[in-house]
Amino acid sequence: MGEGVLMGAGRRVGGSASQAALLDDAGLVLQHGELAMAGVPLSGIAREVGTPVYVYNAEAIRNRFRALDLAFAAVPHRICYAVKANSNLAVLRLLRDLGAGADLVSAGEMQRALAAGFRPEDLVFSGVGKTTAELRMAIQADVGHINVESLEELERLAVIAEGLGLPASVGLRINPDVTTETHPYISTSKGGIKFGVPHDQVGRAADLILRHPLLTLSVLAMHLGSQLRDPGPYREGLERLVGLLHLLRSRGCTTVRALDLGGGLGIRYAEEPGLDPAELAAVVSPLLEQAGPPAYFEPGRFLVGSSGLLLTEVLYRKHSGGRDFVIVDAGMNDLLRPSLYKAHHEIVEVAPAGREVATVDVVGPVCETGDFFALERALPRVEPGELLALLGAGAYGFVMSSNYNTRARAAEVLVDGGRMAVVRPREELADLFGRERADPFAAATR
Ligand code: LLP
Repeated sequence: MGEGVLMGAGRRVGGSASQAALLDDAGLVLQHGELAMAGVPLSGIAREVGTPVYVYNAEAIRNRFRALDLAFAAVPHRICYAVKANSNLAVLRLLRDLGAGADLVSAGEMQRALAAGFRPEDLVFSGVGKTTAELRMAIQADVGHINVESLEELERLAVIAEGLGLPASVGLRINPDVTTETHPYISTSKGGIKFGVPHDQVGRAADLILRHPLLTLSVLAMHLGSQLRDPGPYREGLERLVGLLHLLRSRGCTTVRALDLGGGLGIRYAEEPGLDPAELAAVVSPLLEQAGPPAYFEPGRFLVGSSGLLLTEVLYRKHSGGRDFVIVDAGMNDLLRPSLYKAHHEIVEVAPAGREVATVDVVGPVCETGDFFALERALPRVEPGELLALLGAGAYGFVMSSNYNTRARAAEVLVDGGRMAVVRPREELADLFGRERADPFAAATR
């Protein structure tokens, strides 16, 4: 079968329909027999920056933002990019320039977003375990609103606001107890998990906010999970939010200014297409129009996932125990998703040569059997020194990377209109241990 083989110089490429769609989403085309992104040949990036390297296509990100924005054009809405998906400052700046707000889950992300030029009022501070210092920072920075996830957090927030004598705009992230079909590690909307205020505590939480002179209940929020392909659960969850909105209105609460539907829009990684924003809009827009307040969305993966790839070099081929291995220079420390979730990332040759396809395991150099990118994958017979691109790596790629095995984290490159820029240089090995002390008690024992 032709799967995995890229064909035809100068043509839109793709060995299978899904591979073609993935290349298209990333803005990858075959130029002079090799893959180029936004007019920049990937081999040139590898030569200049080395491998492994993450490459993101600015225009692909813009296209996704516009598609989502357009799908919801009929209802007032705001897109707050979930910074955790890819928090490089260049990506943040790009999304800010498109008019996005930002959804944050830590002081670090807050500082990044501010450094990238987001205005404090365009920030949403989410997260299930915010520290006192982080809540204080959010109040002092006067962020748009703080999504609280428990009664306990709310009580803490009230005390901090009182201590500072400053007001806080509050979102209540409820757990809508809706079932979603996704990997259990990234499903966040059922009962019995750590996220959101459980249904039976929402009334008490709302009362606490309504009675408090410094707290304002501004937003009702949910986040169902990640990589969702079915719009149905969004409708179910939104119905719960709207029900709650009516209940609050009947109790005289008039301050809710937005309904936050969270993120979670799935993308294509292989055969299965992602969630079409127009399909989602068709399902939830009528409800939103009826309900009144503007909608907030917190997509991460949808905006950046397809736009990025991880470029890696083949180090060796190896045959062992009846299996064929392709050993590459990127490892699970660079892209954890396959090891952690058995996630599928399509792997393509950068310079396709129309070779025979064989079944191989694509593995990294890290000392773990779980360090793999693909098991039993049909791949053309690539040789050491050649480049491979792992697609769909723009979200939850670099941000989840680590220094395991004392490996420097990869460089990040942004391409746009024929130009490339290193937006994060490869880490230096000396940086990895330069602040450690080999002999901390030497002075004391002398
Ligand atoms: N809002 C909240 C409150 C979230 O927790 C998340 C993601 C998002 C928005 C954005 O979700 P997205 O639109 O990107 O699906 N590491 C996993 C994904 C974890 C998602 C965590 N929360 C992965 O690699 O698939």
